[in-house]
Amino acid sequence: MPLVSMRQLLDEAAAGGYGVGAFNVNNMEQIQAVMEAAQNTRSPVIIQASRGAREYTNDRFLIHLMRAAAELYPDVPVALHQDHGNSPETCFSAIEQGFTSVMMDGSLLADGKTPSDFEYNVEVTSAVVERAHALGVTVEGELGTLGGIEDGHGSGETHLTDPDQAVEFVERTGIDALAVAIGTSHGAYKFTSPPTGEVLAMNLIQEIHEKLPTTHLVMHGSSSVPKSLVDTINEFGGEIRPTWGVPVEEIQLGIRHGVRKINVDTDARLAMTGAIRRVLTEKPEEFDPRKYLTPARDAMRAVYEERMTQFGQAGHAGDYEPKTLEEMRDSY
Ligand code: G3H
Ligand code: 13P
Ligand code: ZN
Repeated sequence: MPLVSMRQLLDEAAAGGYGVGAFNVNNMEQIQAVMEAAQNTRSPVIIQASRGAREYTNDRFLIHLMRAAAELYPDVPVALHQDHGNSPETCFSAIEQGFTSVMMDGSLLADGKTPSDFEYNVEVTSAVVERAHALGVTVEGELGTLGGIEDGHGSGETHLTDPDQAVEFVERTGIDALAVAIGTSHGAYKFTSPPTGEVLAMNLIQEIHEKLPTTHLVMHGSSSVPKSLVDTINEFGGEIRPTWGVPVEEIQLGIRHGVRKINVDTDARLAMTGAIRRVLTEKPEEFDPRKYLTPARDAMRAVYEERMTQFGQAGHAGDYEPKTLEEMRDSY
């Protein structure tokens, strides 16, 4: 099956009342782990690459790995998405490479750090929508800013999404999906105690969904940072401080109120790191990369399978025939 449109995946998820995990990848093992998990759970799935991932992997390696994934797992509908495009040019280059979906993150200026103003966001996002939709490619926009700067994304300040502004933003830009800021941040250190409604504003999702019932909502910074994964890293010499992520039940609540795409990167990073640390600690004589990358891949697959089941996408891979990008273009 060719790489499919993210819009179709999200439309189907809305019709079926489930969410779709969007998993960040930087290498072959991560792609293999996501695809294996999707096949095992019969899930449609979104694979996404940040600008940093594209630079690390190299676009040509990445696109050929993704084409191999689509070829080797013909029963898995998979979309390839640019995560946090910082400018229209980044989104356009992703489209040229063969990405079937892009995020124009105009909530920040092109430096990926400075919060922008609303008019700038509307302008850059609209420019991407115009070009992308003419090719059948999906566009995600973002309104409001996430907290957290430790991974190089975000302003470090949190500006929660304003529901009325969200309506104007969606109407003026024509985006397919809207990333909302509700108090989450990227990386492992999201909350210093289990999050309450004071720091994780799930009520906002409900309010935005009531005003925009047909817009697919996206939750960024949605790793749950399970204690077991953190403990494994620390048991084998790591130093991750006590921390809390987004509880899966909160994500499931969001899914009941219009959340269709859930971004998860950190949980897989933690799983991979813990598995590698375990092998290198328990067998210090080991130096064959396959001996630690195989358990690392298995540990990530287990996380992806668990999330696919929890988000409800499991079992839905065969529900529909993927549309071509030409068909998607004609639908806009
Ligand atoms: O947006 C955040 C993702 O976790 C990607 O992070 O820029 O370090 O690849 P990255
Ligand atoms: P996490 O750091 O919570 O995994 O979030 C990833 C993300 O939002 C990518 O865009
Ligand atoms: Zn993000």
